[in-house]
Amino acid sequence: MTTTLRLPEPRPGSRILSVGTYRPARVVTNDELAPRIDSSDEWIRERTGIVERRFASPDESVADMALAAAGKALANAGVSPEQIGMVLLASVTHPYQTPAASTEVADRLGAHNAGAIDVGAACAGFCYSLALADTIVRTGTSEHVLVIGVEKLTDFVSLDDRGASFIFADGAGAVVVGPSDHPGIGPVVWGADGAQKDAITMTQSWVEYRDEPGDVYPVLTMQGQAVFRWAVGEISKVCQQALEAAGITADDLVAFVPHQANMRITDAMVRALKLPEHVVVARDIATAGNTSAASVPLALERVLESGDLPRGGLALLVGFGAGLAYAAQVVELP
Ligand code: UT7
Repeated sequence: MTTTLRLPEPRPGSRILSVGTYRPARVVTNDELAPRIDSSDEWIRERTGIVERRFASPDESVADMALAAAGKALANAGVSPEQIGMVLLASVTHPYQTPAASTEVADRLGAHNAGAIDVGAACAGFCYSLALADTIVRTGTSEHVLVIGVEKLTDFVSLDDRGASFIFADGAGAVVVGPSDHPGIGPVVWGADGAQKDAITMTQSWVEYRDEPGDVYPVLTMQGQAVFRWAVGEISKVCQQALEAAGITADDLVAFVPHQANMRITDAMVRALKLPEHVVVARDIATAGNTSAASVPLALERVLESGDLPRGGLALLVGFGAGLAYAAQVVELP
């Protein structure tokens, strides 16, 4: 006789209950960065749309920033730390190989009933984690999941790198995902093209650095044009697939919140998707720079603050970057 295992009661859906963010205090202008890379405020604005960005202070860690954003998200949701069943922390800049930053964040938050893992899908990390959170809640595994996107890219980008120093920045954004009586997070369309793994990578592995140290410890390096072409060519298709998977069209959207990689990439995607005028487009990159895993929740907060958007209105989210990994889904706004 076989025994059938019991599973938790599944739920009809999950949704984002709240958003919380942390933007470091120090504002860094293009003029401050330009002299080191023979650039200018004008070039950086024109090629990226970035006017300024935030840099964390030296004593501010990935876990510190994650904690600040997560605390606000929990308060905004009216959910206590003990109610969280899982902490998913998306980041590629936690400077310890192990343990995961999420374990420290869960402990410092008081989320003592939660599992905790880090998700290393770079700029797609938040959207990947959101899809996992949706699955965790819908399967009845946990009632509430905390999803955090956080980066301190200034620890892993050289200020002398002409192809990257002016793009990347620091910050954190978090959401609480909880139960819903209908789907509030649509199906994810995700993937990765590992054949292009060298398009955004590190200058050395830690082992190579140990055996033959370079001038600086391993930092991020990017083939900007290749990534730009891939993003414009492929990610609009991924966005379209996410709309179709959710059973909607661009007309049904109230907001578009893409990873804040480059304003020109956002503009190209808006054109390719033929987004109607009424769709509010997140353009947080102008003042936040590219914060990798943190950029989608930071931009989501900006859109919620700035627009007169209805609760429950539909927003298309998409993350894409190193890997090359990508993930997109339609969500109801909190
Ligand atoms: O978040 C992960 C995903 N990341 C992305 O999606 C980033 C995608 N890539 C980009 O955003 C862009 O490729 C960059 C902003 C990184 C670079 O912009 P670009 O328009 O692709 O510049 P480019 O490399 O094609 O260079 C164009 C020109 C060149 O001069 P010439 O040969 O036309 O005379 C470069 O030498 O701009 C010059 N250049 C610069 N000039 C001033 C390149 N970098 C700089 C610079 N300042 N920092």
